Amino acid sequence: MEYRNLGNSGLKVSELCLGTMQFGWTADESHSNEILSEAFENGINFIDTADVYSRWADGNPGGVAERIIGEWLQQSGHDRTKIILATKVRGEMGDAPNDQGLSRAHIMTEVENSLRRLKTDYIDLYQTHWFDESTPIEETLSALNDLIQQGKVRYIGCSNYPAWRLVQALWYADRRNFTSFVCLQPHYSLVHRREFESELADVCRTYGIGVIPYSPLGGGFLTGKYKEDGPVVDSKRAKGVQRHYSKRNWQLLSKMEDIGAESGGKSISQVALAWLLSDPIITSPIIGPRTLEQLKDNFGAVGFRLSDEEKQMLDRASDPKQP
Ligand SMILES: NC(=O)c1ccc[n+]([C@@H]2O[C@H](COP(=O)([O-])OP(=O)(O)OC[C@H]3O[C@@H](n4cnc5c(N)ncnc54)[C@H](OP(=O)(O)O)[C@@H]3O)[C@@H](O)[C@H]2O)c1
Repeated sequence: MEYRNLGNSGLKVSELCLGTMQFGWTADESHSNEILSEAFENGINFIDTADVYSRWADGNPGGVAERIIGEWLQQSGHDRTKIILATKVRGEMGDAPNDQGLSRAHIMTEVENSLRRLKTDYIDLYQTHWFDESTPIEETLSALNDLIQQGKVRYIGCSNYPAWRLVQALWYADRRNFTSFVCLQPHYSLVHRREFESELADVCRTYGIGVIPYSPLGGGFLTGKYKEDGPVVDSKRAKGVQRHYSKRNWQLLSKMEDIGAESGGKSISQVALAWLLSDPIITSPIIGPRTLEQLKDNFGAVGFRLSDEEKQMLDRASDPKQP
């Protein structure tokens, strides 16, 4: 496992980050615990979660993934300092007007809730889940800066920001001498390229912002388990994955299968992760395995890189400008 600096910071994170949106949604608590232990024992030191995970699942009030991680941390007895814990704030945690957003009020309340659920006294990376058009960026940055001063948060990042909002945040932080975002968590994969590549990639390259892409397997599409003429896949994610059904993407999967076979029997999902890992702008793709088997498969991407020729072949096959 390689460890990379998170953006311009000195913080070292593993080349794969373990996402936890599936905890308390598609993975129950005991599977979640197994996944956490297996990931950590095999060198993943970077865990991504969010306060809101996964409030959309039946019977999940939000906060469940954080609670599972907190209990695992406590029960496993792992040294807290060996784990880089990343969480997020912004989502709706209740019905009252201040139960969501990036105001000072919500951030200050919600960080305490996250710390309590995670059973820790600091968060390594605190991320704004998506922008809040109703709160001035200065208010958000000032609250995050205070959390850093208080030692409750060590680094800050953002997710789902358009390029101009990211630049605006960097500019305000610089102007007010606040701590800056060290990383961006964008939606980015072979089947979702345009959003990151159109402008965000240049911003991250120019300002040394770390990139930790989410949904690197397109929610499961880039595993090859969905087939053009195949049976319906038994997955809670199957409906969302259908957005990737297109002639271009079926052909892409077939090229990925060929590259995997020529690379000594790598799976399609390992090729998808390797496509990201072969790009120097990427710090650490966030995987979301539901089972131990999936995690073990995802691990096959560690140290696996595509040749320039293979990468270019996949770039062409997934070109968002082509239909
Ligand atoms: N910032 C944000 O707004 C945001 C949004 C989404 C996600 N995230 C973060 O990113 C993480 C990953 O996102 P994601 O779950 O969408 O990632 P993904 O890698 O695109 O999809 C993961 C899903 O693919 C399927 N899968 C994975 N490996 C497989 C394998 N080897 N064989 C067959 N199926 C496999 C599983 O779904 P099934 O088995 O259930 O089909 C798994 O839950 C999340 O946990 C979360 O931490 C952040």
